[in-house]
Amino acid sequence: MQAIVLGSAAGGGVPQWNCRCPICRLAWAGDPRVRTRTQSSLAVSPDGDRWLVVNASPDIRHQIGATTALHPRTGLRHSPLESVLLTNGDVDHVAGLLTLRESQPFRLYGTSEILAALAGNPVFDVMAPRFVTRSEVRLEQAFEPLKGLTVTLFPVPGKVPLWLEDGKDPVIGEATETTVGALIESDGRRMAYVPGCAAVTSDLRARVEGVETLLFDGTVLYDDDLIRAGVGEKTGWRMGHVPMQGSNGSINALADLSIGQRIFVHINNTNPVLIEDSAERRSVEQAGWIVAHDGMVINL
Ligand code: MLT
Ligand code: MN
Ligand code: ZN
Repeated sequence: MQAIVLGSAAGGGVPQWNCRCPICRLAWAGDPRVRTRTQSSLAVSPDGDRWLVVNASPDIRHQIGATTALHPRTGLRHSPLESVLLTNGDVDHVAGLLTLRESQPFRLYGTSEILAALAGNPVFDVMAPRFVTRSEVRLEQAFEPLKGLTVTLFPVPGKVPLWLEDGKDPVIGEATETTVGALIESDGRRMAYVPGCAAVTSDLRARVEGVETLLFDGTVLYDDDLIRAGVGEKTGWRMGHVPMQGSNGSINALADLSIGQRIFVHINNTNPVLIEDSAERRSVEQAGWIVAHDGMVINL
């Protein structure tokens, strides 16, 4: 199995179009310490030939262009992208579906709740039903989005997508069909992809124990990153993201598990680990974590 991190940033990317936070400023200036990053997406293949894309980011057109394995290869119209799986309905994970129109057949997988959010919005019908099959996936039931690749979705603490919040305080941290993680298996190798997660629970720990590779929510370093950076008032918790650091942070909460490699993805542009020689970056690396970058290849 091979995986390619198509986009390692959270919503907005790095730099974000309107942002002059300290990290985006370095990125705008072309400082080599901050790589530019596109929004959250992963491509996975059992054979290097046929690909599943997990989450369709608004940057998918650029991501396909930057990834030779995803270029059309035969005939007049073709794509190695055969399936798309969604782990939540956030804009940074679904807006790219609007790019995947042009009468190209593929299969779209998601929980009933995530697919209902799309069905409630007719703009997604640009993926013509004649070409794109939407398949509802039950939690905890293994399925094969591609032959040779088995996926099991499991609920993680999350919240409804921001665009479906109704103005009241949303319920945060319940493990439902709204936000899921994906256990992806091929040829006896296992990878867990959890780009959004509000808290590390004992269920989640049990889920990721023993995997060869864990790709996990790296949105914020501390719960109050956005407040510290002066760009917003929301905590990580309010956005549905557990911090890396702190006693309940993902680094601590997953530290004692047996996991081959630990990789942070979905990293927000305010997160200081994005600065390559920073103390914050060194401290997550010393804790055994890798900060993903776009185009990172994982061979399993
Ligand atoms: C998130 O991960 O918190 C969302 O992508 C936020 C958003 O939809 O902008
Ligand atoms: Mn996001
Ligand atoms: Zn920024």
